[in-house]
Amino acid sequence: MSERILVAVAWPYANGSIHVGQVAGAYVPADIFARYHRLKGNEVLMVSGSDSHGTPLTLEAEKRGTRPEEIFGQYHAEFLDNWDRLGISFDLFTSTHTANHHQVAQDMFLKLHEAGYIYPGVMHQPYCEADGRFLADRYVEGRCPHCDAEGARGDQCDSCGRTLDPRDLVNMTCRVCGSTPEIRETEHFFLKLSAFEQELLGWVRKQRHWRPNVRNFTIGYLEGGLNDRAITRDIEWGIPVPLDGYEGKRIYVWFEAVIGYLSASKEWAAHGGEPDRWRSFWQDDCRAYYFMGKDNIPFHTIIWPAMLTGYGGLNLPYDVPANEFLNLEGLKLSTSRDWAVWLPDYLERYEPDPLRYVLAANMPETSDSDFSWRGYVRANNDELVATYGNLVHRVLTMSHRNFDGRAPEKGRLQPEDEALLAAARARLDETADSISGCQFRAGLGSAMALAQEANRYLDRKAPWRQIKTDRTAAATTLWTALAAVNCLKVALAPYLPFSSGKLHSMLGFDGALEDTGWRWSPDAIAPGQPLPKPEPLFAKLDEAVIEQEAARAQS
Ligand code: MF3
Ligand code: ZN
Repeated sequence: MSERILVAVAWPYANGSIHVGQVAGAYVPADIFARYHRLKGNEVLMVSGSDSHGTPLTLEAEKRGTRPEEIFGQYHAEFLDNWDRLGISFDLFTSTHTANHHQVAQDMFLKLHEAGYIYPGVMHQPYCEADGRFLADRYVEGRCPHCDAEGARGDQCDSCGRTLDPRDLVNMTCRVCGSTPEIRETEHFFLKLSAFEQELLGWVRKQRHWRPNVRNFTIGYLEGGLNDRAITRDIEWGIPVPLDGYEGKRIYVWFEAVIGYLSASKEWAAHGGEPDRWRSFWQDDCRAYYFMGKDNIPFHTIIWPAMLTGYGGLNLPYDVPANEFLNLEGLKLSTSRDWAVWLPDYLERYEPDPLRYVLAANMPETSDSDFSWRGYVRANNDELVATYGNLVHRVLTMSHRNFDGRAPEKGRLQPEDEALLAAARARLDETADSISGCQFRAGLGSAMALAQEANRYLDRKAPWRQIKTDRTAAATTLWTALAAVNCLKVALAPYLPFSSGKLHSMLGFDGALEDTGWRWSPDAIAPGQPLPKPEPLFAKLDEAVIEQEAARAQS
């Protein structure tokens, strides 16, 4: 029976390019997951968009002497282009800068206000005398009171993931002028998180299918007690507070950005001409999976569920498979120090599938992991080219050369042939189980194990020798190997959509791989099926890439 799956992916701030850390943390895993479920025939809605508000945008605009809207427009266009080139298959990638989102966010604000979950109160906000203004969120930094990390901001510490009140910061300074701000009182709206503490704790404790790091972090957080949080700010850029007397204030970026999942679903439905279709993903039977890096966890496992509970009638997250961090050459990524591999740069120089492969193989699922150019070149050359690509190339060129450009017809299968086909079936099922359990590394490992098994099979059978003495035996070997290659095409389709699509045509199928679905049988390739002239699936990379990229990173 077909299932309904909402794939909700963290909304990147439109204040700079995407880097590989975000790609590994959220976009590649979400896309593997969505593609797999679509192939399975499930009903998938994958949404996200540019996070266009908040101090990340205003700070960048001030730095460049332009308006936040300009910054947003530039990066939103870049993101859309990047998703297309990397094959991140959103059903809708919108932004928080739409009339629809403003309306949906304000509606949720008002409903929570009516229900008493949003109330006015006094916030103690840093104020810079030198600049003559309040310093929201990223305008201040200091030491984190929880983990002692430097560089924590007014609303969150990236190091330990805790949300903060600016008054908590030790040695707080103004990021614009470096002076020490004073604390002033200002009236804001608060979200009554304290009202949800016990209910959320009971709910999270029951989520035994969550990753242990996500569940333990959330339980620890809730056990520490939930404080009500201010959800409006003294800034000019963002969604207006829909109540009189707050004209100069805006809704806090994190409060409204998470509402984007809902507003994007509504926009998608309206766009498709069925304005009520969003309801099946939010109000009916549906599993909602939220993909993100670990710094986003509390907003998705505590604040958003609290908002949904207060609003009522909408599905809570089913799973939040947040990733740990991806380091670069052994060092923590830093956008401010430009220690990152930027996605537009990558896409300008290299192919999309090798990046998807390397990030899936090193996905920081249970602990931080590392991206290095040496590792990238090695994985491309040894695994994609030598193991998978070479297998495909050997099987296809031999079939082409010896069987007149057509798929050979099998003779009687030997136990070794049967064994490879059984392995193919088993590996495909393993990959399916791993992907549906959000274990993307393991799923890729199973598929690549099949590629190795098929290579060993081919080496033992040596069809290039069989062909000289026993044409039927060679045909049987190549028939079996083609079936295994066809299975790999399916197993790897969520990971490597471009090469699986190419392989699908090279195996002589018309139409799109997407229409074939997550299905495989050894007999899928008809004997005599014409095989187009094979081309390499992957290109070998020169070792010089490692030096070139190291030099680029220095400059
Ligand atoms: N813009 C945030 C970040 O980059 C993520 C927002 S996720 C959302 O960390 F769901 F809240 F939008
Ligand atoms: Zn901290």
